[in-house]
Amino acid sequence: MRTIVVDHPLVAHKLTVLRDEATPSPTFRLLVDELVTLLAYEATRDVRVVDREIRTPVAETRGAHLASPPPIVVPILRAGLGMLDGMSRLLPKAEVGFLGMVRNEITLEATTYANRLPDDLTGRQCFLIDPMLATGGTLIMAIEYLLAKGADDVTAVCLLAAPEGLAAVEEAVGHRAEVTVVVAAVDDHLDEHGYIVPGLGDAGDRLYGVV
Ligand code: URA
Repeated sequence: MRTIVVDHPLVAHKLTVLRDEATPSPTFRLLVDELVTLLAYEATRDVRVVDREIRTPVAETRGAHLASPPPIVVPILRAGLGMLDGMSRLLPKAEVGFLGMVRNEITLEATTYANRLPDDLTGRQCFLIDPMLATGGTLIMAIEYLLAKGADDVTAVCLLAAPEGLAAVEEAVGHRAEVTVVVAAVDDHLDEHGYIVPGLGDAGDRLYGVV
């Protein structure tokens, strides 16, 4: 497994505004969108391309073209939905699958309540999107799910990670070379309620309100 922490002043700036409790929901959504696009640039560094012959107005040449089948972007509902537009902007031809997962706020265990994905992911590159890598429970379940369906490689794109969550993912799937985790920052710790500290609060609530 590879872990990439995207070290860039624009990412740091946007993340700081995102963390601020005074940042209202519309600005929060916009910032998540912008941040994801910056993270997606790093996350897609190994996206598959094929050689293609084209003709410019001046000459014939060869270039790169996204390979087929296209990658699949998989938001983990609900907060992952807030990252979908930013990811799709860079990968407009990607297909989109959905995984609905929720964690029990007492046991912090994740369960799957919805899934809309092809049964066979053999040969597919998958990009899982979920803003908060807290205990790691949800992400581990999602990664294992995609690998079990034959996904070739799985890149998880998260805004924030807790060291405890990253360690849990490393322990569960660290031996799988085809797994990558891309994050904007690794925070200090998890509190007793499973919140990332300093974090940004409940990402789903800040994106969509408390419903
Ligand atoms: N999920 C969130 O939305 N925030 C956290 O801090 C942890 C999990």
